[in-house]
Amino acid sequence: MNFRLSEEHEMIRKMVRDFALKEVAPTAAERDEEERFDINIFKKMAELGLTGIPWAEEYGGIGSDFLAYCIAVEELSRVCASTGVTLSAHTSLAGWPIYKFGSEEQKQKYLKPMAQGEKIGAYGLTEPGSGSDAGGMRTTARRDGDDYVINGSKIFITNGGVADTYVVFALTDPTSKHKGTSAFIIEKDFPGFSVGKKEKKLGIRSSPTTEIIFEDCRVPKENLLGSEGDGFKIAMMTLDGGRNGIAAQAVGIAQGALDAAVAYAKDREQFGKPIAANQGISFKLADMATEIEAARLLTYQAAWLESNGLPYGKESAMSKLFAGDTAMKVTTEAVQIFGGYGYTKDYPVERYMRDAKITQIYEGTQEIQRLVISRMLTK
Ligand code: CAA
Repeated sequence: MNFRLSEEHEMIRKMVRDFALKEVAPTAAERDEEERFDINIFKKMAELGLTGIPWAEEYGGIGSDFLAYCIAVEELSRVCASTGVTLSAHTSLAGWPIYKFGSEEQKQKYLKPMAQGEKIGAYGLTEPGSGSDAGGMRTTARRDGDDYVINGSKIFITNGGVADTYVVFALTDPTSKHKGTSAFIIEKDFPGFSVGKKEKKLGIRSSPTTEIIFEDCRVPKENLLGSEGDGFKIAMMTLDGGRNGIAAQAVGIAQGALDAAVAYAKDREQFGKPIAANQGISFKLADMATEIEAARLLTYQAAWLESNGLPYGKESAMSKLFAGDTAMKVTTEAVQIFGGYGYTKDYPVERYMRDAKITQIYEGTQEIQRLVISRMLTK
């Protein structure tokens, strides 16, 4: 057993860390305040090959693995969780199902430009009446000649409005729940597709989250992903990996908050000494660091399992559960260490705390992760 990262992984970490500090961190607070997505950051990530880390070179990727991808999401999220989730949704939620279930034509047409960062990807599963109960969707896809005609709407779409390519789930057989669900690749310019309301959010505010609407949206039959009826399994398998991307995001947020808290605790003096000299603070820092390390190990383990073709669904649910809770706890403690200053926008820890909350909610709430883990233990 070897817990050392390979040279390649260390190199990717250094490259993304340098990029994040130079190109992402300086505007993170401002983009959060203005709820502004910056396409230039995405383009610069593309230049570095970050938009296609785990995909083979023939599909525009850099031929690395899911561990490298998680390291990239972690390092981006360490300075800006919005940028972390932009890459995560693009890679895990939109790229992965096309890579795994797409035909050669679909991979060349859709995955390649996404991997090269010419197009942005998104994933549409959740609906107003179907969140945790993903199988309760209402959106339909009716076959009409050489097309499918899609009607309905999806909400909480990460990269909504800025994405070009959406992997979307709809009922091709509304009489059958899971087995009547199919997956489609939708282009933003397809007739009948539109972007609806943009959410105003507590955190990850520079990552756009929108509704997407289908009004007699015509989709060529070639854009069916997998076979009719495969959709629910494709959606679930996609989330198995996606959840580990969110775990990586959570580890990054927590590490960013710890970095800030350590620096502040060493610098801030009260009662004639740095506050880090008080056990009440230093023990907090020790607990924060320990929990982050445990979350990171769980996350890297799930990524390693996936990269090595081993089952990873349970481990991925565990990493998201543990890392999400760790991020919430660590960021809350970081605000506490900063005291009154931590509650202001003069320091980044309040942003980390707001950003951490979503990691306990999206890609399956913490309660759904427990359901997934316990079902796997008892099935
Ligand atoms: N891999 C493969 N197949 C799977 C699977 C998996 N991980 N999970 C379930 N399935 C299969 C089952 O084997 C079953 O197949 P059979 O009918 O052949 O036996 C079928 O799918 C139905 O499974 P369940 O009976 O377990 O389904 P369920 O209705 O009880 O739901 C659930 C299971 C785990 C609760 C699921 O609904 C779920 O994951 N809910 C949460 C949804 C979620 O995470 N949403 C987040 C959306 S993305 C997002 O957050 C926005 C963003 O952009 C970031």
